[in-house]
Amino acid sequence: MNETDIRRRILLGRSFITKFSEEEGVAEDYETDQTLKKPQPPLAKAPMREQAIALPTDYSALPIDNDFLHVINSRASHRVYTQEPMSLLQLSFLLWCCQGVKSVRGRAYATLRTVPSGGARHPFECYPVLQRVEGLPDGLYHYLPLTHSLEFLGARADLPDFITRSLSGQAWAAKANVVFYFSCVFYRAEWRYGIWAHAPILMDSGHVTENLYLAAAAIGLGGCAIAAVDPACANEAFTLDPAEETVFYAMPVGTVRPSDRAAEDAFYAFVRDQNL
Ligand SMILES: Cc1cc2nc3c(=O)[nH]c(=O)nc-3n(C[C@H](O)[C@H](O)[C@H](O)COP(=O)(O)O)c2cc1C
Repeated sequence: MNETDIRRRILLGRSFITKFSEEEGVAEDYETDQTLKKPQPPLAKAPMREQAIALPTDYSALPIDNDFLHVINSRASHRVYTQEPMSLLQLSFLLWCCQGVKSVRGRAYATLRTVPSGGARHPFECYPVLQRVEGLPDGLYHYLPLTHSLEFLGARADLPDFITRSLSGQAWAAKANVVFYFSCVFYRAEWRYGIWAHAPILMDSGHVTENLYLAAAAIGLGGCAIAAVDPACANEAFTLDPAEETVFYAMPVGTVRPSDRAAEDAFYAFVRDQNL
């Protein structure tokens, strides 16, 4: 790439952010599909399997840190996991906190969830990949937010290898109890926001992982958001049609212990080594 090409790509990237609020270059008669009264897409993806596993919803047995400021201050990225089992209740709590549906607005206009979303579009699906979660076989799952349940998509013998490959070689993530893969169902946001849908999708995704970070911190677990996903690898595993839906974000969460602080810090040894 020459300097002109690089500059052009940089400006394109910037406009992706600014165009959300600019009308420049948009035909005056442009209307989104919602304005054109086209049918609204479903609020969540239909079940992919016939059977679902109901998740527990009574979190009173969980030792939740209710000191809000302590949770905020203790949030950090964790990349070292002890590989002890995670309980089903802990997994349920994490899913509830990042995508749980509290109610439906209108008859079927929008879901109201534990995270905010532009226009309450909630354009994401969550595919947890589990290892060492009590009561559930290791493998690939799909979260059904409308019923707070999970469906088992299947096992695979190469789970750690799949996790590593789908996260662009980040092998540490394969030791987590759960890797949350988040996909975007484009049209759910595009129906309402049309050509302006895409920056808000990314804004929304930050709420999802931040809630996961805080939920994990509140129950003594640790995780780390991951942008460096390999969409093709993940889409194939979850049988997604990338024209409609693509994995674009992930977050491993696992059991952690304070004595692994030095191992955590080793990820940033280069800062000290290079005197940055
Ligand atoms: C959008 C986003 C993408 C990230 N992608 C990665 C990643 O691919 N690999 C990784 O090791 N950390 C990733 N992180 C974690 C950041 O490196 C981390 O948040 C940052 O170093 C600050 O550390 P802290 O979260 O402990 O405050 C990501 C964080 C965010 C919010």
